[in-house]
Amino acid sequence: MDTLEAIKKRRSVRDYTDDPIPREDLKKIVNAGRLAPSGSNRQRWDFIVVTDKETLQKLSKAAAWSAKAGAMIAVTLNPSTKYWVEDGSAAIENMLLAATALGYGSCWLQGNAKPYEDEFKALLNIPPNLNLLSLIPIGVPQQWPEEPDKKPLESVLHWETY
Ligand SMILES: Cc1cc2nc3c(=O)[nH]c(=O)nc-3n(C[C@H](O)[C@H](O)[C@H](O)COP(=O)(O)O)c2cc1C
Repeated sequence: MDTLEAIKKRRSVRDYTDDPIPREDLKKIVNAGRLAPSGSNRQRWDFIVVTDKETLQKLSKAAAWSAKAGAMIAVTLNPSTKYWVEDGSAAIENMLLAATALGYGSCWLQGNAKPYEDEFKALLNIPPNLNLLSLIPIGVPQQWPEEPDKKPLESVLHWETY
């Protein structure tokens, strides 16, 4: 699948079979995150891939539907880096696109500043100085959602000036 096709196809998928995801595919997805741009190329990120069912169940406190994902990728960043949110977001989007290209459903689940952030950090043994920016469930989709409502191109595209 080419890049523009993956961008068009990507959806937030929240309904999975509980099939496992091959480790090789999970590595490809994380590798896509690793290759993202980051401010001054600092790459102050880490990716924790969770496949253990019991841990996945605990993480589904973030969203009950995510319990059926075959894996969850926790994205941590060091907030002492000026552009940590932008860096992490670029990595997350790369992983969402990679998951789409491999035929998996995924969704951006907010981690940072959520009431469960500290609990999940303890569960995953994340050092206190790192933030849990996001959790990305990866699953075999039950069905591919319809395209969500998106603003038309003409309403957001401006040429030359606002
Ligand atoms: C920063 C951010 C946080 C999000 N947090 C959640 C979340 O906690 N739970 C959830 O179900 N979806 C979450 N989403 C997914 C959005 O709801 C989704 O992207 C939006 O509805 C558009 O749908 P689409 O992804 O299919 O284009 C988040 C997306 C972003 C970018």
